Amino acid sequence: MSVNMEKGTTSKVLVTDNISEEGIKKLQEFGDVDVERDLSKEDLAACIADYDALVIRSGTTVTKEIIDAGKRLKVIGRAGVGVDNIDVERATEKGIMVVNSPEANTISAAEHAFAMLLSISRKIPAANVSLKSGKWERKKHMGVEVNGKVLGTIGLGRVGSEVAKRAKGFGMRVVAYDPFISQDKAKELGITLLSFNEVLSTSDFITLHTPLTKDTHHMIGKSEFELMKDGVRVINCARGGILDEDALKEAIKAGKVAGAALDVFEQEPPNNDDLLALEEVIVTPHLGASTTEAQRAAAVVIADEVIGALSNKPVKNALNLLYVEEELMDTIKPYLVLAEKLGLLGAQLIPKSRRIEQFNVSYEGELGAVEAGIGKNTRMITVALLKNFLAWFTDGVNYVNAEAIAKKFGVKVTESKTEGVENFVSLISITLRTEGEFETTISGTLFGKDDPRIVKIDGFWMDASPSGHMLICSFIDKPRVIGPVCTILGDRSINITGMRVGREKIEGEAVMVLNVDNPVAGDIIEDIMKVENLIDVKLVKL
Ligand code: NAD
Ligand code: MLT
Repeated sequence: MSVNMEKGTTSKVLVTDNISEEGIKKLQEFGDVDVERDLSKEDLAACIADYDALVIRSGTTVTKEIIDAGKRLKVIGRAGVGVDNIDVERATEKGIMVVNSPEANTISAAEHAFAMLLSISRKIPAANVSLKSGKWERKKHMGVEVNGKVLGTIGLGRVGSEVAKRAKGFGMRVVAYDPFISQDKAKELGITLLSFNEVLSTSDFITLHTPLTKDTHHMIGKSEFELMKDGVRVINCARGGILDEDALKEAIKAGKVAGAALDVFEQEPPNNDDLLALEEVIVTPHLGASTTEAQRAAAVVIADEVIGALSNKPVKNALNLLYVEEELMDTIKPYLVLAEKLGLLGAQLIPKSRRIEQFNVSYEGELGAVEAGIGKNTRMITVALLKNFLAWFTDGVNYVNAEAIAKKFGVKVTESKTEGVENFVSLISITLRTEGEFETTISGTLFGKDDPRIVKIDGFWMDASPSGHMLICSFIDKPRVIGPVCTILGDRSINITGMRVGREKIEGEAVMVLNVDNPVAGDIIEDIMKVENLIDVKLVKL
C-alpha cells in the first residue's frame, strides 16, 4: 500500500473500463482501487476529485471537464495505445501525466486486421451465417485469393508493419504510405513506400493503420474512393473516423468497393445502420485488442506505469513527459537539482512584474555534446529549470506542463550547446531577458558528482552554494562595503554561513553572495542599501 507521506493518505485509483485482473491486482497491492465500469460522463466528473489516478480503455472519454474536476489527479492510464479518447492537451496543461501501453496489443491488432482481410476475401462471415441458417450457397460465396495481390497500408507503424509482414507471408506485394517512416525502414520490411494517391490507385486491398488526428480524420473520403481500383477491398481496424462511413457506403453502392471490414466506427457502438446492412461490409465490435494475451499485457503494463507515476519513478510510456533511459537517470539527477536551483534563482533575480520574453539555456562541456549520452537528454534539464522558474510566478507547474505553461505565457525558450568549456566538466547557464531590456545570466555547475554550485552571475565568477536564504549584493569594488554589510547583518542577529565575492576588475563592479541562516527583513535590506558604493541587494530563497 502506498501512503502519501505529506498527507498521510493512500493513493486512490479509479478503473472505469474492463481491465484484466492481473493489472487490477497490481494496483490493489499499491493503493485503494475502485472499479466502476458503467459511470456516465456526469458521474465520472462528480467522483473524479477523490482519485490520484484514472485507468481506462477505449470505453471512457476523458474530457476537459473531467480533467478539470480531477483536483488531485496525477495520472491517466490508458490500457491500450489510442489516446484519442483523452484530452491530452488539457491533461498536459493541468500537469497530469498520460501513460499508455503502446506495444501490448500490436500483435493482436495486426492479427485481427489480417483475419478481417481474409474474411472479406473469402466471405467467411456471410457463409457462416448462411450455412447456419440451413442454406448451402457455394456460388454466392465465391471469393478471391490474396496471393499476388497488392496490399496498400496507410500508416506503417507498429500495427501496420506487423500486418505487412503477415501479408508478405501470404504472397502479397505490400506498398505503403507513411510520411514519417524512412525508406530504410520500409526497405528492411521489403515494402515499397509510395505517395498517398499511388497507394490508393495501385492497391487491391487497403488497410488503415494511422492514429485518428485532425490530419487523418476522413483521410479516406469520396475523392479517395474515386482514385481506388474498381473492386478494391478496404479494412479499418485503426480508428473510426479515419474513413468517412457515408462515403464508403456510396462507394460500395456504386460498385467501386467490393468489400469492407470494419472493427472501429465513427461512433461506437455504430449508428450507421445502412452501412452495416450492406452484405459487402463485415464488422466486429472493436475487437482488435481483445485477446487474452493483449489484455493481460496491457493491464500489467498500465498498472506498472500508473504505480511508477504515483511513486515519482521514471515511466516509459508517458505521452506528455520526457523519458530518460534508466542508466542515464543517476547521472542526470544531480543536474536536475542544479537546474531547479538555477530556475528558482533566476525567477528571483529578474525585476518584479516585468514580462519575461526570452529564456535561453546554454549547455557547455559534457552536457553540450549533442551526439551522445547525457548531452542528448538536456531537454529534461531545461524543463527542470523552466519548472522552478515558472513555479515562482504561478501554481501547479510540474515536469509535465512546464513547457506548455511557458508557451501560454509567451516565454520563448531556447537551448544552445557548446562541447568545450574550461575548468568544468559541464556548465549550465540561463540567460533571462525581460521586457524593458533587462537581462541576467546565471551559471551553475556540479562540484564532484552531485554538489551544485553557482559559479557566475552576470559575468562575475564566484563559487556559491545555492541553498537557503541568500543575499546577492552588487557594488563598486572599494573598501568599506563588505565589512559594513556584514556588520549590519551581525547587529541584527543574522548569522552568515557563507560568503563569496566576484569582481570584474579592481574598483570595478563586483558581486557578493552571502548565505544566511534566517530571512532578512525589509528594513535590514533598506539599511544595507544605504552602504556607500552598494548598487543593489536582492534577497533570494532557494
Ligand atoms: P503507431 O503510432 O505505431 O503507428 C501509426 C503510424 O501512422 C505511424 O508510423 C505514423 O507515422 C503514421 N501516420 C501518422 N499520420 C499519418 C498520415 N497522415 N498518413 C499516413 N501515416 C500516418 O500506432 P499503432 O500502434 O500501429 O496503431 C495504429 C492504429 O491502430 C492507431 O489508430 C491505434 O489506435 C489503432 N489500434 C486499434 C486497435 C483495435 O482494437 N482496433 C488496437 C491497437 C491499435
Ligand atoms: C487501442 O487503442 O489500444 C485499441 O483500440 C484497443 C482497446 O482500447 O481496446
